[in-house]
Amino acid sequence: MARSRWNSAVALLAVLAMAFAVAAMASDDDEMMSLYQPRDPCPQVERIVKEAVDAEFKRNKQITAGLLRVFFHDCFSGVCSFGCDASIFLEEEWTGGVNGGSVQERVRELVNEIRVKVNKECGDKAVSCADILALATRDSVAAANGPRTPIFRGRFDSLVIGNVSKLPGPGQPISDLLNLFAEFGLQDPADLVALSGGHTVGRTKICFIVRPEFQQSCRANGDRQILDVITPDQFDNQYFVGLTRNQGVFASDQNLLTHPTTRRFVVDYARNKQAFFTQWATSLRKLSEVNWVTPRNGEIRVNCSRTNRGRVSSIMDADEGFAASA
Ligand code: HEM
Ligand SMILES: *[C@@H]1O[C@H](CO)[C@@H](O)[C@H](O)[C@H]1NC(C)=O
Ligand SMILES: *[C@@H]1O[C@H](CO)[C@@H](O)[C@H](O)[C@H]1NC(C)=O
Repeated sequence: MARSRWNSAVALLAVLAMAFAVAAMASDDDEMMSLYQPRDPCPQVERIVKEAVDAEFKRNKQITAGLLRVFFHDCFSGVCSFGCDASIFLEEEWTGGVNGGSVQERVRELVNEIRVKVNKECGDKAVSCADILALATRDSVAAANGPRTPIFRGRFDSLVIGNVSKLPGPGQPISDLLNLFAEFGLQDPADLVALSGGHTVGRTKICFIVRPEFQQSCRANGDRQILDVITPDQFDNQYFVGLTRNQGVFASDQNLLTHPTTRRFVVDYARNKQAFFTQWATSLRKLSEVNWVTPRNGEIRVNCSRTNRGRVSSIMDADEGFAASA
């Protein structure tokens, strides 16, 4: 098992190197970057996803926050070190741990609507649900005036449920968060700070976890406290400006300003929106490349809410699941 995983890692690296070379040649069209070689099975997916997300954003600005959180949780709920693999859409993970009752149902519906369109245009073996989620997240940030990041395609969908107990909590010390991000390959402290900037469009319905200063306004607003108190629905750097004014809602937000390792990034992004956008592009791409599932241990789901066989392996019999699919 360990050896074969090493071999697929080497193979993936080779493909990545090739994809980088191809991407460098196709200079001005970085949206088309794909791991599929020699031929991209569905270049149309870039357009299909963008149109669907733009249309959704017109009537529902909350979709950006919904997609960002779901994507982050998908990539960070690894088991056997798998990452962005659409495991979050399987019922057990969708309703498990901190996801339960807190992820936006509309996100899974939208991804499944895109799934149907992609199946019609390209067949149901061409693009994974994990790729659709990654592209949709990227496009929803652009729709909210954020940067549009190049995202590779080529992920496969998991056959197993991820481990949701690694997902970070709002009271966690910054040192824990730095270690957690490093565990997923995001070792640069700028990754933690920039990606926490996803809260620029976020809301929380759990009033009791916000810092004491916000308890009152949280109650006054009913159940939804905005996380960027300056420009709640714009993808911009005002979340960081808020932190410099001691207006971070979670301790895990505000402490980014006081921790010696993260402070300078917060100050930089608060002053300079472009610096935030540039780091965001790098960090979102790194997040999107966390531990891809490959054809050896995954599949392309026809329906993003269930595996093609309709059953999921538990963590314990994961090896059996891979053997059956190989
Ligand atoms: C670094 C550690 C992080 C912690 C401790 C954290 C914690 C939380 C918590 C507690 C909520 C509120 C959930 C609720 O009330 O239902 C939340 C919401 C949210 N988080 Fe994070 N988060 C972190 C990182 C991230 C990252 C990296 C992203 C994306 C890049 C992200 C995007 C969001 C968004 C967009 C929301 C709002 C979701 C919505 O309105 O539907 N968070 N986060
Ligand atoms: C899930 O993650 C938690 C927290 O890191 C860990 O204690 C636990 O052993 C993990 N479970 C499995 C089955 O990997
Ligand atoms: C996809 O699977 C879910 C869960 O089994 C089911 O509720 C839904 O109807 C399915 N969607 C389609 C289009 O078949």
